[in-house]
Amino acid sequence: MSTTAVGRAVVRKDGIKKVTGTATYTADFRPARLAHALLVSSTVPAGKIVRLEVDPALRAPGVLAVVTHLNAPRLKSPGSMATGGEFAEHFFPLQEPEIHFWGQYVAVVVADSLERAEDAAARVRVEYAAAPFQIDMEGNAVELIEPAKAMGRKVQIERGRLAEGLGAAEVTVDETYRTPVYHHNAMEPHATIADWTDELLTIYEPTQWVMGLRSVVSKAFDPEAEKVHVISPFVGGGFGSKGFSWPHTLAAAMASRAAGRPVKLVLSRAMMFTSVGHRAATRQAVRLGATREGRLTAIKHATLTAGSIKNEYLETCGLATSMLYACPNVSVTHRLARLNTGTPCPTRAPGEAPGTFALECAMDELAVKLALDPIELRIRNHAERDPQEDKPFSSKHLLECYRRGAVLFGWDRRNAQPRSRQEKGEWIGCGMATATYPANKRDGSAAVRIYGDGRVVVRSATHDLGTGTYTTLAQVAADALGVPLERVSCELGDSLLPKAGVSGGSSTSASVAPMVQEAAQKLRAKLEKFSSLTEAVADSGTGFVEAEAETGRMAAAAAELVKKGPSTHSFGAQFVEARVNIATRQVRVSRVVSVIDAGRILNPLTARSQIQGGIVWGIGMALLEHTDWDPSRGYPVTRNLADYLVPVNADIPDITVEFTDYPDLQFNSVGVRGIGEIGITGTVAAVANAVYNACGVRVRDLPVSLTKLLA
Ligand code: MOS
Repeated sequence: MSTTAVGRAVVRKDGIKKVTGTATYTADFRPARLAHALLVSSTVPAGKIVRLEVDPALRAPGVLAVVTHLNAPRLKSPGSMATGGEFAEHFFPLQEPEIHFWGQYVAVVVADSLERAEDAAARVRVEYAAAPFQIDMEGNAVELIEPAKAMGRKVQIERGRLAEGLGAAEVTVDETYRTPVYHHNAMEPHATIADWTDELLTIYEPTQWVMGLRSVVSKAFDPEAEKVHVISPFVGGGFGSKGFSWPHTLAAAMASRAAGRPVKLVLSRAMMFTSVGHRAATRQAVRLGATREGRLTAIKHATLTAGSIKNEYLETCGLATSMLYACPNVSVTHRLARLNTGTPCPTRAPGEAPGTFALECAMDELAVKLALDPIELRIRNHAERDPQEDKPFSSKHLLECYRRGAVLFGWDRRNAQPRSRQEKGEWIGCGMATATYPANKRDGSAAVRIYGDGRVVVRSATHDLGTGTYTTLAQVAADALGVPLERVSCELGDSLLPKAGVSGGSSTSASVAPMVQEAAQKLRAKLEKFSSLTEAVADSGTGFVEAEAETGRMAAAAAELVKKGPSTHSFGAQFVEARVNIATRQVRVSRVVSVIDAGRILNPLTARSQIQGGIVWGIGMALLEHTDWDPSRGYPVTRNLADYLVPVNADIPDITVEFTDYPDLQFNSVGVRGIGEIGITGTVAAVANAVYNACGVRVRDLPVSLTKLLA
């Protein structure tokens, strides 16, 4: 295989469409006779609807339907990851009068215009019998559970003997770290256009999982899956919030059926803070024990986090801790508090993002106590093999990340003493941390098609979440087929295409790129039997020649591999320079260097954007973002982008990203591991560690806001 496209920094195939506004996102579709739906949400965080008056709404001009729990069709089964689609809230919308969180949908109103839907929605009268509610996971009356597993992974982990390890320690760190609720805040709001006719239910929806949404919708309403068609060519950011399916999609489908017309439903920014997931708050108690030489003898990582009343989704903070360092005695535990909020869900680098904040800050605190360079401490505890699984890694070049990052960053100019460097009224500090995220892959399939004029089309029901999939899969196909990249395009994000899994867990490239490669190789072999493309196309009788590849038995093979195969993870090293204003204690990040070991890099340009995006998220988590609930009324008070601060350009410095770029051919035939999430991991801790190095204040309770630095 000649490599000409893979590895080249080519611009996005969909770039021009996006910057010229011709990329069709969900809300851009305009089926004929489109009606507009609006959701009415509960204004209490717990209790029961005792009176519901919809007649004034039904009498309002232009109103086509009002659906509530009193007249909604009874929904069947939500399905699950195991059955091919996950419904995030573990109870269906508009089925019962019970209220579990503020913002839960209680009605959907359909009218012939958005304004008329708004007018009618305001006329729906709901009375509640409010009940006591829980919003603080550390509160006294909260129900706590200890799940054994989360998303199929064990989450209570013991290795060796913790007490002995702590007993043998000459130096210890014992601290508690806290992270607040974070919201995904994708630029594109969640939206559905549902068009339910006798033959077919068509759903336009920005989703990270078209096949999963099709499965959830067909199980809920009970038509055959073939009668549900999900269309999602562009997704304006998902970050986990568009991976599972949400109640608004089902409400839109019910609204379309009730109105007998296609219906458009777009969530407001405020609704995205209550009803499409979030990253749960965490309290993480970390104990480290080490010898005077800095060898870890014990690690304890106990996480308390929150789920919702009906769902036990768990932010798995300690999983990375179980495999990141060579330490004989490790205890990782997770507890979950049931709160009256919408359910949390995967949020970019779920588990690892807050988890590496706690672990990697604790490592920094240990380095300070040992008077040891933080990089040297990590090198001394480097895990050559996966210490938890006791098996080799498929490919790991973390030591190279530390060393290369240190050179690129100029780590040798750092002074370990806080407040030792200042310039223009600011203390300057440097911090680093290890990045890590599992390398995942799922069942997937792809077809590659060539037309008589030489155009090549890659077809797969996977997704481009803004990540570059339209471009990278074309690169893989171009090389495998031996054609110029310009001739190759992709059709993605449609449930009629060859099936693929959720674009979550940084799995898309590792799952689909090998299938594209294989399909292209098969197509090439097919074509070689003919003397010309024209002849091959004529022979097929369809106007094109196509070949398909699928990881049919991969689920079984993967289960086998988990037992026998190597451990698959990506790694990296994050370096941050932070400046703290001596008078105001305002913090800004002035430089970031990131060296990432994530297998073969298909496209250095889109890959760099992925890591930069992750780092921007990390800076946001560290310094700005947090969602706060009103403890007395149980609703999120930060429900817009003025109160919930995300980083803007002025908050983001130059970010240098380098990749080790070693193909991981034990993981898959393309050698690629995912890069969608690892960029955040380690970054949050590196910022906090840099702030400590700058001003000598250790903030263990995110975000690192200036009031916490006034010591
Ligand atoms: Mo990712 S948070 O698994 O979409």
